[in-house]
Amino acid sequence: MKKRIAIFASGTGTNALNIIRYFKTSSTGEVVLVLSNKRHAKVLEKAECEDIKSLYFDKASLYESGKVLDLLENYEIDLIVLAGFLLKFPDHIIKEFPRKVINIHPALLPKYGGKGMYGRYVHEAVIANGEEESGITIHFVNSEYDEGTIIFQASIPVLPQDSPESLASRIHKLEYKHFPKVIENLLTSD
Ligand code: GAR
Repeated sequence: MKKRIAIFASGTGTNALNIIRYFKTSSTGEVVLVLSNKRHAKVLEKAECEDIKSLYFDKASLYESGKVLDLLENYEIDLIVLAGFLLKFPDHIIKEFPRKVINIHPALLPKYGGKGMYGRYVHEAVIANGEEESGITIHFVNSEYDEGTIIFQASIPVLPQDSPESLASRIHKLEYKHFPKVIENLLTSD
C-alpha cells in the first residue's frame, strides 16, 4: 500500500509541487494533504490545481487545540514533510510521529540554521561570510530548529558573482533533484 505524505509549507511551494508531481508516478507513496499556516500562500493554490487536499490552519490549531494533529491522524499520514515551513513544529506532533517528520534546509547544517534562518536570509549570510560552498540538508525534525539528525546533504560551490537570488535558484534546483528521492528512500526503508 502507498505511504501517505502530508506536506507543510508557508510560501510559494515549489518544492511541494515538485514532490506532489514526483509521487504521482511512484508506487511507494502519495501526497494526500498540503497544509499551510498562511491563508493566501501560493502553495495552497498549487496543491488544489494538482487535486490535492489543501488546508490553511491557524496557530491555535497547531499548538493548542490539537486540530492539526487530529487532521494528520484522520488522514492516516505516514510521513510529514516540511518544505519551506517557517513555524516551529510542535513537540506533541513530533511525539506522535517519531522519525516521521522531516525538513529541508537550504544550507549545509549545522551552519546557517536556527530561528530566523530561512530562505533569503540563509543565502545572504552564506555570501556575506565568503563561504566557498553551500547546499541542502534534509533532516529529521526534533524540538530544536534545524538540529535533528541529518539524513542527506548535497553541496554546490558559491560563485564569486553569486547574489542571494542566484544562489537560491541553484539551491532550489538541488532541492528539486534530491528531496523527492530522499523521501522515497525513507518510505521504502521503513
Ligand atoms: C526552500 O529553499 C527551503 O529549503 C527553505 O525555504 C524554501 C522554500 O521554497 N526552507 C527553509 O529555509 C527552512 N528553514 P519553496 O516554497 O519554493 O519550496
